[in-house]
Amino acid sequence: NRLAGAADLHDIRHLARRRAPRLVFDYVDGAAENEVALERSVKAFRRVEFLPRVLCDVGEVSLATSVLGREIAMPVILGPTGFTRMMHRDGEKAVARAAARAGLPYTLSTMGTTTAADLTCAAPGGWNWFQLYVARDRERSRAALDMARDAGMDVLVVTVDVPVAGARLRDVRHGMTLPPRLRWRSALQAARHPAWWFDFLTSEPLTFASMGGSDLAGITGRMFDPSVTFADLEWMRSIWNGRLLVKGVQRVDDAVKLVAAGVDGIVVSNHGGRQLDRATTPLELLPQVVAEVGDRAEVYLDGGVRSGADVAAAVALGARACFVGRAYLYGLMAGGEAGVDRVLHLLEAELRRTVQLLGGTLDPSVARLRP
Ligand code: FNR
Repeated sequence: NRLAGAADLHDIRHLARRRAPRLVFDYVDGAAENEVALERSVKAFRRVEFLPRVLCDVGEVSLATSVLGREIAMPVILGPTGFTRMMHRDGEKAVARAAARAGLPYTLSTMGTTTAADLTCAAPGGWNWFQLYVARDRERSRAALDMARDAGMDVLVVTVDVPVAGARLRDVRHGMTLPPRLRWRSALQAARHPAWWFDFLTSEPLTFASMGGSDLAGITGRMFDPSVTFADLEWMRSIWNGRLLVKGVQRVDDAVKLVAAGVDGIVVSNHGGRQLDRATTPLELLPQVVAEVGDRAEVYLDGGVRSGADVAAAVALGARACFVGRAYLYGLMAGGEAGVDRVLHLLEAELRRTVQLLGGTLDPSVARLRP
């Protein structure tokens, strides 16, 4: 079938573009303003030069690694993405099940369209994490954490690069609302993608439908608190006794402050280029953050990962593991749960082959960034 014929994630992305309406595909594929941060984050992986070690007996290599003290199948974490039921009616549940099957953690977003309890029921064997945006109403955040904890989630990822929403111009141009509404602007799209609209309109309304259809910037501004500071991190530490990662770190000095504040890990990320355009390129900042705090906290890379070879490069340059966002969403749009399975299979096969060709180990001596 079409999924099996996809040779890499670029092929999967093309399938996604054909299957999903333009405004849904662009919500996933797009980024902020001129999309420079996204372009740089992806292109940075082209700067990687591998230095393979020969004659190493790579007949059998293990891709397993440990994060936060627990073993996972390979250094890949499925990151948080909002409104996932818009990409496919099975949404977060499909992604969590595929992640569980692959032995990888999955992170449910605050903007998720499936509850924490429903998610862990759907993917009982999985390691499910929770991502938090701090709400203006702190009790709302506390309640979200309680729900995550009650559902068995033990890792909290606090995203700190969204004090306000970035300007996603593709969404603005489409006049996109969340959830999407069928109206004259999207009617042509609907005619081209009837299967998607049928699924969407006949499945359970998105949880966020209660917010009455609005643009993302409006939802973000109403719900999330732009006045959050390091002091709030202490509050979070006091009400969450599981592991805590901070996602969206883009400076070495911030990483140092966060580690001093007692976080377990840092996710070097510019939100996939969806927030501040021209922000730091994660792969380029990564080695500096690792050099500074890598002995005291786990450092993760997020942004621009489109292949298993990208994962290998990031790990060689010091990342404990990579978060992926669009990679699995392309799969979800292309073919639901089977599409996510295909993406994770491709990432695994590419990573395995790369590790073997590199001589079996991922350390700083096997990769460098060309100027
Ligand atoms: C995101 N991302 C995100 N991050 C977060 O902390 N909470 C969220 O709700 C979302 N929502 C979201 C939706 C969509 C459609 C995308 C593409 C991304 C950011 C995400 O977790 C991650 O940082 C980026 O996706 C990483 O870049 P790549 O892997 O997509 O290049």
